[in-house]
Amino acid sequence: MSRIVIKMQPQLERMREAGRLTYRTLALLAEHIRPGVTTKQLDAIAHEFIADNGGTPSFLGYMGYPAAICASVNSTVIHGIPDGYALRDGDIVSIDVGAFLDGYHGDAARTYPVGDISPENRRLIETTKRCFLAGAAKAVAGNYVCDISREVQRVATEAGYGIVREFVGHGVGKTMHEAPEVPNFFSPQQPRVRLHEGMTIAIEPMINAGSGQIRVMKDGWAVVTADGMPSAHYENTIAVTKGEPLVLTDA
Ligand code: MF3
Ligand code: CO
Repeated sequence: MSRIVIKMQPQLERMREAGRLTYRTLALLAEHIRPGVTTKQLDAIAHEFIADNGGTPSFLGYMGYPAAICASVNSTVIHGIPDGYALRDGDIVSIDVGAFLDGYHGDAARTYPVGDISPENRRLIETTKRCFLAGAAKAVAGNYVCDISREVQRVATEAGYGIVREFVGHGVGKTMHEAPEVPNFFSPQQPRVRLHEGMTIAIEPMINAGSGQIRVMKDGWAVVTADGMPSAHYENTIAVTKGEPLVLTDA
């Protein structure tokens, strides 16, 4: 990961546009998520929409990644490669997408229900969003990155869920991954990084219904829960201010 980059107003405005396109892509995909649609169809819709709006998909070609979105169903945590799988009633699907526009990236993810889902899955999705919100509330200039991590962890742990530790949030800007790392758990070994106005970071809890243990599939990308239980993801790119953070990838 590269260094921490502070963005001034002109850069923040460009990041807001990249973030807005990222968000609008997610919103469009949400309209298409229903039983029967394949994750490859969702990928094509996202790719076309980003291109039609003057952007390029951030993920495509990143370390050889072959698609515009990640589509991670049920026990897949992240980095599910879109394929011919047709979504089924009761599934949950995590969509992660990034748009590169005018030199800057947006990065965001949501877990969506497919048709009618179980109350357990609903609670998992809602709690993962609450993890993000609790963490983001601490993303204020003068605080530390670990203040975010601690809050995400608190909400997940109180709900009885497992936290994925191998993958973390990160700075976002001209490159998709900048310093600092933003873990979803507190660790005393974590370097103490202070938050400053103009830092742009992706906060992205990956929360498992069971244990936090994961493994990587043979395709080298898809990350799945070790116990086969479902997982949810919620991510926004935010800008740190002296007050409430600016969410760059939301309406
Ligand atoms: N949103 C992911 C992240 O924050 C990026 C997907 S990885 C890719 O790390 F390789 F698929 F691009
Ligand atoms: Co990210």
